[in-house]
Formats: sequence, structure tokens, C-alpha cells
Amino acid sequence: MDKANAKARIEELRALIEKANHDYYDLHQPTVGDRDYDMWEQELLKLEADFPEFADASSPVQNVAGGLLEGFAKVKHDPPMQSLDKTHAKSELAEFDAFVRKTVEGFTYLVEPKIDGISLSLRYSGGRLVRAATRGNGLVGDDITANVNTIKTVPKVLPPDAPRELEVRGEAFMTREGFVELNARQEAAGLETFANPRNACAGSLKQLDSRVTAERPLDVVIYNAGGVGCDGFASHSEMIAAFAKWGFPVAPWSKFCKTIDEVFAAIDELQTLRHTFRFEIDGAVIKIDERKFYDILGATAHGPRWARAYKYAPERAETTVEAITVQVGRTGILTPVAELKPVPLAGSVISRATLHNADQIARQDIRIGDRVWLVKAGDVIPAIESSIPEKRTGAEIVFTMPTACPVCGGAVARLEGEVATRCMNPACPAQLCRRLEHFASRNALDLKALGGKIADILVDKGVVKDPLDLFTLDYSELAGLDVGEKDAPRKFGKNALNLKNAVVDAKELPLERWLFAVGIPQVGVTVAKDIAAEHEKFSDLKDSPVLKNVIENDTKKGKERKILAIKVEAAKAVLSFFASEYGSAFLDRMLSLGIDPQRGARAAVATTGPLVGAGCVLTGALSRPRGEYAALIEKAGGIVQSAVTSKTKYLIAGANVGATKTEKARALGTEVIDEARLLELLGETSSDKAEQPADEKPSAAAPVQGDLFG
Ligand code: IVH
Repeated sequence: MDKANAKARIEELRALIEKANHDYYDLHQPTVGDRDYDMWEQELLKLEADFPEFADASSPVQNVAGGLLEGFAKVKHDPPMQSLDKTHAKSELAEFDAFVRKTVEGFTYLVEPKIDGISLSLRYSGGRLVRAATRGNGLVGDDITANVNTIKTVPKVLPPDAPRELEVRGEAFMTREGFVELNARQEAAGLETFANPRNACAGSLKQLDSRVTAERPLDVVIYNAGGVGCDGFASHSEMIAAFAKWGFPVAPWSKFCKTIDEVFAAIDELQTLRHTFRFEIDGAVIKIDERKFYDILGATAHGPRWARAYKYAPERAETTVEAITVQVGRTGILTPVAELKPVPLAGSVISRATLHNADQIARQDIRIGDRVWLVKAGDVIPAIESSIPEKRTGAEIVFTMPTACPVCGGAVARLEGEVATRCMNPACPAQLCRRLEHFASRNALDLKALGGKIADILVDKGVVKDPLDLFTLDYSELAGLDVGEKDAPRKFGKNALNLKNAVVDAKELPLERWLFAVGIPQVGVTVAKDIAAEHEKFSDLKDSPVLKNVIENDTKKGKERKILAIKVEAAKAVLSFFASEYGSAFLDRMLSLGIDPQRGARAAVATTGPLVGAGCVLTGALSRPRGEYAALIEKAGGIVQSAVTSKTKYLIAGANVGATKTEKARALGTEVIDEARLLELLGETSSDKAEQPADEKPSAAAPVQGDLFG
């Protein structure tokens, strides 16, 4: 390449990278895929090395990327928080190995997961957490102490054997399960969703109101020394063991290696395990274990020479957007969905991906007919990473959001502060179908005979015009209803009786189940429980002084507020539901049907027994849903933890739990037990184990059983 071309390309690449950095770090809305970004970075690094005359200290590859935000105090990092040089091929790692062998002798490698989160520094003084900061640009970061204080697993006070003055560094992340739930909540509230757990974590940590952060499922892993209190360890692994002993969550997996071939095997093994962690990983970090070599090996502008990152190729697939359809949800939100040419990706064949909202489609410039890169956000949800504009033929069509509801033809609107477009017709059959399906779902009234398909048919045939119609239906007539396919008629038959019985039972379900069943935006299972705990009965929710107080107290900043678990937005949503024409008619109709659900008796927590006060961590594949075990443990007086700490009494290990993990737990004094032993401790024996309900309709967005050991 000649000089003039090189200069032009360098400028082009710098602009591309700077824009990508801004979208990623400041807006938390990535606009390019990891692979393209890495390729630009590599190309620019090479050009800057080949043409030093165009060197510029402000080049994005000469700095650690990562913006600073307004509204946060600044923290100077001493020493600076560096990044790591990245490799993408084993040959590059072999070069790293050759360099290390040339420089030092008698060392061991340690391979760790490279966690894809937000790096942060934690500073303790007098044994207490006094400051938490983001990396920022490496030299100066944002002070996010108030927000990190809300992360349960970050120790706020150190045990007596830890240094009083200490700084440690690691990664904050959002659990994959938490990410899926958060996005579902955001979407239902008409708000912007996050592209991946990393962006959701960044967005959560950079909240100016730490109460918002507190509601986000964040966690940390500590993997590096800070500037204070970490001297005196001969090896990295000893230091990490000490961190774990002092109560810090550390990586659940790591491997010692003597040779580069062992390193290759370890990074391959890690890759097979990547989906079992609670955090997303984007590669492996290869470190020299002996710290005495660090000064000898030195550092580059990018990062230390005693460590290298190895990035896995992202799991993605190329396919075509054949159409963009629009779905209407329970609260009327119109969601555009990409109908894809089916393509296998990470264990399943994908034919659809949500595009969230019109803004998102415009930002990513996804057109009908485009070739696109498909990924799984949070390892679960199919998502379009980017379109591939080079492959356009000119026949692609720009999508526009419909100006009327595609189902009922009614008016649509975008409410202030929302990205969602909504159908404003509460009688819209699409909304009614989804409301009815939700009303009958497992955590709501649990009407097993009524799934999504039957809901569609009941609404389509005009049998149900409102969920409460279920309480006045003629069920003998319903038995004769044809619920089959076009050329395969089938009668609803004895399912009608099952449905009738379930509907009768549903009248007696507690308040929290009914409140969830109504389907008010913002009111998920947990929120419904929190609200139900403060009310006697369903009819008390209308004009509830408790809910009004939550809203009022929120505006009284600084004054002492009664701490209730109820969220302000949820309180507002519930009150506005009952104030609406539909909501007040719904309540009146319930009362005239003789239904006014009562608060359930609060499950008494055991005060004696083997689990009282015992910290428990569930990990691996278990035969019952984790939530079910968690509830049983809590009822028996135990404390469910997300990660093994020195306070963990039992690690309940399901299938496929590696020896490293159990050994680490044992080293912390934790007893490793299997599921059968847990059942014994719970006072159940394996034989009288409740039958697991068959999952009726696994959804694409169902969180995978994540690994709770972090
Ligand atoms: S050690 C001098 N260990 O990856 C920096 N970093 O791309 C030493 N990261 O800035 C960092 N997992 O934010 C280290 N096990 C791990 C890591 C890790 C993730 C992050 C860290 C670093 C970035 C480099």
C-alpha cells in the first residue's frame, strides 16, 4: 500500500473504530459485530506500525477504549487499569509462548475464562469498601461506589485476616438469566432493550440512581491485583485463593498448564464449558502464574506481557431476512420480527428473531431481503448482530412500522418516553389472545388446558371476549368446540371439564397469583408477590394507600422512607390499571362473580433443622427447576447464595459439575452434596419426590438453567 492510501485507510479505520466505541461504551448500543471490530483494530494496528509517520497518540488503538460519563466523580487509577493484547489464532499464542520462553524460565501458565463484562476496581480502607470505579480510559474511571454497593456478592466488610487497606480488580457482569428477564421487563414496559448482558451491565452500573441498579441482577468476579494490599503473594493462583477466602467471588474454572499444547487443550476445554457459566465469556486469558516474572516480562502500551487474551470466534451464522412481520403483544406493543431463512446456530435451528422496535431496526439498518449475521444474545435469544450491506443487490426493502394495528386495524401510537409503538384498542383480538394466554399461564391461574393455541381459537370464535368470561362459560357447549386444524377437526372434549375444574380452583388462588394474572405492565411474578405482601385482598389494590405512599415517598428525596420492596413504576402501573375504565370494570366484575383473592398465608420459615442459617449454592444440571429448590431451601431456613463463599455450608452439585469446582468449594470449607442428600436435609426422600410437571410450551426465550456458581 502506498503512503497516500495508507493515510486514507488509517483515517477511515480510526473514524470507524471511534464511532463503534461511542456506540458501544457510551450508548450501550453496539452497531458492529465483534469480529469486524477486531479486524479493523488489527488492520489499524498493523498500518500504524508500518507507517509510523502517521502515528497519533489519540488514535483509538493507542488508548484503552471506554468512555467517561458526566455525572460521576472521577477516580485516578494507580497503577493504571490496563487492557490485554488479544490473539485470535493459536499460532499467535505460540508466538507469545516463544517470547515468554526466551525471556524467563521455570514458569507455569494459568488459563482463566475471559469474562465479557465491565472491568472495575474495588478499594477497601479500614477493612470496608470505600470506593468502586470503572476502568474508564484506564487512567481515570468513574466513581460508581453507590451502584456497586447494591451488588450483593461484593463484600462490603472484609474478614479480619484480610488486609485493612486493599484494592482488587475484576469484572462486573449481568447473569444470562437476569439479562433475559430484564429485557422481557423492558420490552413489556415499552422501553429500549439491551443487545447483550454486557451492555445491560454497563447500563446498570452507570445509573445515576442506584435504586435502579439495585433492581438489576449484577454480580462480580475478581481476577487481578489492585495497587494496594496485593503484594506478598508468590503466585497469581495463591492470590486468587486468598481473595476467595476473604469473600470475593472468583472464577469458577481455571487450569494450570506447563506447555503451550496444554494451554491449547485448556482453551478448547473452556470453550466447551462456556455456556455453563452464569456469565458470558468471549475467550480465555492466559497468565503466567509466578508473579516474580512480571517485572522482567514488562508491558506494552496495551497491557502486561505476562498475560494474553485469546478470543473465541463468535458463534454466529449468516442468513437472509425473508420478511419482517409485526406481532401484537398482551399490552398492545407492536414487535417487529425478522422471519429468517432457517439456519442452525449454537445447537438449534433459528427461523425468527425479534427486532424489538422501529428505532432498533433503523439504527442497525436492517432491510427486508438483507443478508445478516445472527447471534444468540445472552446465549439464548436469537438476535441480529448486523446486516451485511456489501451483499445487498438493491432489491432490499426498508421496513416501516405499520400506521394501524396489523390485527384489528385500530390506531397505533408511540407514548412519550417509550420506544414501543402500541395498538391503542383494548378490545384488539391480538391483545386479548395474549392476555388470555397469560391469564392461564403457570405462574398466573395455571389453567393447563388453555395454552396459546386454544386462547387464539377461543378469541377467534368469539367464545371469550375477556379473560373473566372463563367464569361464566357454558362448559358442556365448550366440549363440542372444534379446536383442530383445518383438515383435522378435533373436539375440545374432556379438556373442557379439566378447564372448568381448574377455573373453579382458581377462585381460591392467593392475591399474588391473581395480580400477576391480570397482566399489568411492570408487574411480574416477584413484583406481584411484593405488592401482595402489603395488601389483604384484591379489592384493596384500587386506591391503595400503600401504593400511593410508595410513589409519594419516592419524590420526598432525603426524608426517611419506609423501605418496601415495591417498585415505584409498578405502583404507578397498578394504580393506573384500576383507575382505567377497563381495570375498574374488571374489578367490579370480579366482585360480582364473588372473587376477591386474599393474601396467601406467608410460608412459615423453619427455625430448627439442618438447613437453618446454612448458605447453599445450587450448581449443575438438577432434576427440578432451580427456583423450586431455592424456595424449599429458604422455607427450611437456608440461605440461597449465587456463588460459593467462605459462608457457604453446602454446594449442591447436579450432573456435569467439574472436579475443579467442587475442589475449590471444599477448599473454602464447603460440603459438596448431591441432590438426594439435599432432599434428605429438606426432609423429603428421593422416592417421594414430586413429579415434575411436563413443560407445556418451552419458549425460545426461556432462560437456560444457568450455572449458579460464579
Ligand atoms: S487480567 C492488565 N483476567 O479483559 C489487565 N482480565 O480485554 C489484566 N478480563 O481489561 C486483566 N476476564 O477487563 C484478566 N480472567 C481475566 C479477565 C480479564 C476478563 C477483561 C479485563 C481486561 C480485558 C482485556
